Amino acid sequence: MRTHDKHVLMCTGSRCSAHNTEAATLFQQLGQKIDARPQLTVKRTRSNCFAVCKNGPILVVYPEGVWYSCPDETVLERIVSEHLEQGNEVSEQVFHRLGTGDV
Ligand code: FES
Repeated sequence: MRTHDKHVLMCTGSRCSAHNTEAATLFQQLGQKIDARPQLTVKRTRSNCFAVCKNGPILVVYPEGVWYSCPDETVLERIVSEHLEQGNEVSEQVFHRLGTGDV
């Protein structure tokens, strides 16, 4: 396994995705966006459920422990560009933070 600085967990479960396809498509797009930025050392992993099945798909970035609602590719692009590349949270999409709780 390659060394990574961040770990992105994304829910592709059926309760986060009306037709069980949107989240899987976003997960694929996440991989493409990471691969298109070779300077990023980000590992991505899919999850079946984080038990917060609303406003999904849910995407979590560690080590920061920032939980995002990521409903579409526009938001996904912002998370990759602004958070993963530049280190800035996309605050309006954050609904929970590790150590802080719901926002
Ligand atoms: S199905 Fe995505 S959080 Fe439960």
